[in-house]
Amino acid sequence: MGYRNLSAALLAWYSRAARDLPWRVGPAERAQGERPGPYGVWLSEVMLQQTTIAHATRYWLDFTSRWPRVEDLAAARDEEVMTAWAGLGYYARARNLLKCARIVAERGGFPETRAELQALPGIGPYTSGAIAAIAFDQRAAAVDGNVERVMARLLAAKGDWAFEKMRIREVVEMLVPAERPGEFAEAMMDLGATVCTPKAPNCLICPLSEYCAARAEGEPERYPIKPKRAAKPKRKGVALVLISGGQVKVLRRPDSGLLGGMLALPSTEWGEEGGDVRALCRAEGGLVSSLTELGEVRHVFTHFELTLSVWQAKARTRSRGEWRPPEEVEGLPSVFAKAFRLAYPSRPISER
Ligand code: ADE
Repeated sequence: MGYRNLSAALLAWYSRAARDLPWRVGPAERAQGERPGPYGVWLSEVMLQQTTIAHATRYWLDFTSRWPRVEDLAAARDEEVMTAWAGLGYYARARNLLKCARIVAERGGFPETRAELQALPGIGPYTSGAIAAIAFDQRAAAVDGNVERVMARLLAAKGDWAFEKMRIREVVEMLVPAERPGEFAEAMMDLGATVCTPKAPNCLICPLSEYCAARAEGEPERYPIKPKRAAKPKRKGVALVLISGGQVKVLRRPDSGLLGGMLALPSTEWGEEGGDVRALCRAEGGLVSSLTELGEVRHVFTHFELTLSVWQAKARTRSRGEWRPPEEVEGLPSVFAKAFRLAYPSRPISER
C-alpha cells in the first residue's frame, strides 16, 4: 500500500475533528493565515511531554495569563516559576524552561529553524519538530510516544523496538506534507489521543484504517511491541509535618537532583529503609512535644516507587530554617503535597 494519500486523508479528518485546545489555532483560522505564537506552542509542548491535556491545561492557562510573553517569563523569579510549575512533575524541565525563556528573550525571540530550536535548553527532537511545524510551518516531524504507537500499528512494526523507533521517525519525516505541516503534527497527536488509543483503537472511525497493516492483521492493540520494562525499585522514607506556633517548617531542595529547586517538607533520605522519625525530629526541630503518625503516601517517580511515612510533630521552639503558616505553603511538588494534605486535608495545594 502506498502512502501517497495518507497525509491528505489525515488532514481531511483533522479539518473536521480537530480538538479545540487553548494553545491551538484551529483549521478554519489557520486557513485564514492565522498561526499560534511560538511561546504558547513551546510552553504547551514542554508541559505536555509527560502529562495529560486535562492536567496540563490549567497550568498553561495560568502561565500564559501571568507571563503573557516569553520576556515576562524570562523576567520572573526562579522561585515563582517553580511554585507555578509544582504538580507538573519533572522539575528539571521547569528549570530548563526558565533558562530557555531567558536565552530567547535575550536574542529577541524564538529561532525558526529546527536546528536552532534544538540548541535551546530543554528542547529535544520532538519539541523542536513540534514548534518548527506548528508555529513556523516548517516541514518537520514531531514524533512522541503517541505518534510512535500510531505508526507502529500503521507499519505493523515487529522488529526490535529501538530499530523500529528509528524507522518510524524516518517514515514520519517522509509523510509530513509541505502544506499544513503543523496541522499534520497536531492531527497525529489527536489521532493518537482520540482514535488510535493505547488499549482500544477505534479503527471504524480511523481516517488511516485503509493504510494500516495492524488493522489488516486484525489485532492493532498488539502494537507497539516493546521490551518489557523492569519493575521499578521500591524506596521508603519518612516525612515530617513539623509545626511550631501555628507555622510549618518547609525547605527548598538543592537545585540539582530529584525535585531540584522545589519546596519540600523535612524528610529522611529515601532508600531501602525508611529512616528514623525521631532522629529526623531531632535534626529538624530540636525538642518535640508530640509525635503522631498521619499515614502513608505513595508516589511513582521515573526510576522508583516511593512510600513515605508521614508524621506530624509539634516543636517547642522554631529551629533554623523556613517556617510558614499552613495557608501560605504553596508550590509543593505532588509527593509532598500528598503528605501535607494528611495534616491539612482541606488544602488542595497544587490546585491553586
Ligand atoms: N500532545 C503533545 N502536544 C500536543 C498538542 N500540541 N496538541 C495536542 N496534544 C498534544
